[in-house]
Amino acid sequence: MLTAQTPTNIAVIKYWGKRDETLILPINDSISVTLDPDHLCTTTTVAVSPSFDQDKMWLNGKEISLLGGRFQSCLRELRSRACDFEDEKRGIKIKKADWEKLNLHIASYNNFPTAAGLASSAAGLACFVFALAKLMNLKEDHSQLSAIARQGSGSACRSLYGGFVKWIMGKEENGSDSIAVQLADEKHWDDLVIVIAVVSARQKETSSTSGMQDSCKTSMLIQHRAKEVVPKRVIQMEEAIEKRDFPSFARLACADSNQFHAVCLDTSPPIFYMNDTSHKIISCVEKWNRSEESPQVAYTFDAGPNAVMIARNRKTAALLLQRLLFHFPPHSDTDLNSYVIGDKSILQ
Ligand code: PMV
Repeated sequence: MLTAQTPTNIAVIKYWGKRDETLILPINDSISVTLDPDHLCTTTTVAVSPSFDQDKMWLNGKEISLLGGRFQSCLRELRSRACDFEDEKRGIKIKKADWEKLNLHIASYNNFPTAAGLASSAAGLACFVFALAKLMNLKEDHSQLSAIARQGSGSACRSLYGGFVKWIMGKEENGSDSIAVQLADEKHWDDLVIVIAVVSARQKETSSTSGMQDSCKTSMLIQHRAKEVVPKRVIQMEEAIEKRDFPSFARLACADSNQFHAVCLDTSPPIFYMNDTSHKIISCVEKWNRSEESPQVAYTFDAGPNAVMIARNRKTAALLLQRLLFHFPPHSDTDLNSYVIGDKSILQ
């Protein structure tokens, strides 16, 4: 039995659109920041025993099916790479070939709302792959494991590293070069503070899988974004991260979030992930940034209404919270219900 913890990650250059649905190969590179595991993370315990009659999984205490293609792809990849395992003290010996026959039990727990646009699938699938890889004694490094996690949920591949992470889209048809790499570790830019405004903890209406499919089929903007905009933005974002250049970082992150939501609006039927409260938060941050010499806070929204804000330092984060509490007091007529605050951090 083994337990692992994996934090979620939030993209500052978004992944949206696949060129291969089964292997989960994206149409553009993306960049994310991994959050502090104390605030938004998945904890997964995995166990193996000859007495288990089938693979089983529980999420937040409820049994869920492992029959979906994505779980099956990950399990197949993991079992095919499993190695001999020996624990002399406890007299346990598992041969490589045994992993194909032995069944697994997997219990996973999210310390934050599931499927509400807070990248629960990223943390969940990354933890699933990481915990099982340890249990099965895989020799693969984090990058190779990221290619397995990617087949569970695209954004999961970025949660195998802390700090700033790039998911390289790759060129190969078999996906072997579509992997995550660490751009900078969690200590590189440790003055940044992430504040998440939980606008709604409800599950989103349009899953990212079906949203991406619809965007790829119907939006003209998505192709322009993938081919003309993101490649340049990724280079600029890497530079901003390397130089800890907050004004460029904030400008790129906000523009990319807004373009991702513009692609959602350009989809038929249009997809509305943000709501009125999300829009009010954007206006509030934009107004503040424009009233200062340079931006103080970056914002980004995934496939849901919750705002992820990145403040340039602790002092700015404290001011941001004051402003948010003034404009959006909890239990007011907005549907904003709580705040999560934390430093960005690393996978443990
Ligand atoms: O990996 P998925 O299927 O949960 O898709 C994630 C899509 C976004 O969160 C909107 C963007 C991203 O890069 O994480």
